[in-house]
Amino acid sequence: MRGLIPERFIDELLTRVDIVDVIQHRVPLKKAGREWTACCPFHNERSPSFYVSPSKQFYHCFGCGAHGSALKFLMEYERLEFPDAVEELAKTVGLTVPREGGQQAPREDRSDSYSLLDEAASWYQQQLAQDSEAQAYCRQRGLDPDIISRFRIGWAPAGYDGLSQAVGRQQARKLELLSETGMLASGDHGRRYDRFRQRLMFPIMDRRGRVIAFGGRLTGSEQGPKYLNSPETPLFHKGRELFALWQVKQANPKLERIVVVEGYMDAIAMHQAGLPIAVATLGTATTPEHTEQLFRATADVVFCFDGDRAGRAAAWKALEATLPRMRDGRQAGFLFLPDGEDPDSLIRQEGQAGFQQRISQAMPLSDYLFNELSRDVDTTRLEGRARLAERARPLIARLPDGAFRDLMAEELERRSGARAQLGVAPAPPRPARVEGQRTLVRSVIALLLAQPEVAREWQPPYPFAQLELRGISLLLELIELIQRRPGAHAALLIEHFAERPEYAALQKLMTATLVGDPETQKQELRDAIGRLQHQAHIQRRHALQARLGQLNDAEKEELRQLLPLREHLRGFADA
Ligand code: UTP
Ligand code: MN
Repeated sequence: MRGLIPERFIDELLTRVDIVDVIQHRVPLKKAGREWTACCPFHNERSPSFYVSPSKQFYHCFGCGAHGSALKFLMEYERLEFPDAVEELAKTVGLTVPREGGQQAPREDRSDSYSLLDEAASWYQQQLAQDSEAQAYCRQRGLDPDIISRFRIGWAPAGYDGLSQAVGRQQARKLELLSETGMLASGDHGRRYDRFRQRLMFPIMDRRGRVIAFGGRLTGSEQGPKYLNSPETPLFHKGRELFALWQVKQANPKLERIVVVEGYMDAIAMHQAGLPIAVATLGTATTPEHTEQLFRATADVVFCFDGDRAGRAAAWKALEATLPRMRDGRQAGFLFLPDGEDPDSLIRQEGQAGFQQRISQAMPLSDYLFNELSRDVDTTRLEGRARLAERARPLIARLPDGAFRDLMAEELERRSGARAQLGVAPAPPRPARVEGQRTLVRSVIALLLAQPEVAREWQPPYPFAQLELRGISLLLELIELIQRRPGAHAALLIEHFAERPEYAALQKLMTATLVGDPETQKQELRDAIGRLQHQAHIQRRHALQARLGQLNDAEKEELRQLLPLREHLRGFADA
């Protein structure tokens, strides 16, 4: 999938973007000397061990080891595939991504699937526009035309091959993709037919607004489940996606709060009533991936559930998925609705203001947690308080390090009288020194990545090229690349090895020299290369001495010059 985007474009892209901008946009960075730091977005910590180097265009967390270029950051932070991360990054600097070998797109290129699902959504929309019964159902549910078009609601007609005919057009490749995206189901003898029939269709969009799946609701008393969702497909993982998150982001450039509800119609009703802050899980429990997405979009998340037993169980699952994400500054609330009501029905009765009132009275996560755990214990008795402490401790321990966790531990102590004893999170390790821990060649590579311009002081042929040591050929390749690409920073150099087995090792080496004084690093590099040269000379001397009787004049002269070399030099032993 990398192959489709020309390498020189990645080069240009990494030259144009600034990793500090890219990260700063998402994680507030503080200047620390030459670098920038923050609390790592990839693990929970209280003091910053996440470093971003503007000169190297590389980030590294000394706590959890996450590292990489601006591209890698986007892939990890936004959970994007490589081509999507390239596209996203390209957009920020006004570049268009060129593609190579357009015809035989490999399977990983999903653009055909996306456009086919988009076509499917449009076709369902047209069907709705032509079907008066389906329209009557929409009216009966109170859906207004604007919301129908904003959510691209459509209608899957009766019949087994409407979609296959209209969108698949009997082309093998399209039918294959329709199957792969879950739009066709197969019955006995492998016969394929439209999965969604006689259903009101809700397209599910990803975070970039692309249709990736559908939910379909029966409108009458036909057989089958009330709601049918697309199966898990390469594009759709319901444990990760949230219905209407795209519409929420579109409607709110500055999003202060998100309300998570259980049903498609609940989310839609809230949007229609002027609260375009609702998303819905897709018939599944809330997962930690959901909560991660939610908290990336806003710092305030309210979960809304039915007051019945199923609703309470779902709320507890949501709480568990939320705990590890409760970094300081974030808050989660829990709202339980009266029996027999859902957000759709309530907002139609109470209007926007009434429902907003309920949202603002949601129970804070802390209260919900303690109330729920105290439900069947008598906290006036010692035994009850001990039980409360025993239940609460493992949950509080799942909170990230921070003031909130401390406060929760204190609260538990207050309620139970028992010390919380959650253990102290380990401090981030200090940046490692390069030398002494790694072989000489590895040190040279690490330092060279940090200070590539030093290589321009060197002229081929390099004596150390003859050394039979692991990593020498990689080092030579790197030097050659630097000569070819003057001014290239570390992240860009490393990207040239993206599809090679050495890639991971190079990234790791890079992190060893991420933080450091450039002048010192340059000197260290010159010293290390000097030692490598020395080693090459010694090796040459041994070779010449072994053939002492057969040396020609030039070789004798060479040996004479090599003789005064001392066998050992500081740092030599680790080569
Ligand atoms: P509900 O049964 O609570 O329905 O399902 P609802 O949201 O109130 O829908 P309406 O108002 O009757 O139209 C809540 C959610 O659970 C999932 C769907 O995501 C639905 O929105 N669900 C429900 C299914 O996946 N399959 C089903 O058969 C039922
Ligand atoms: Mn409902």
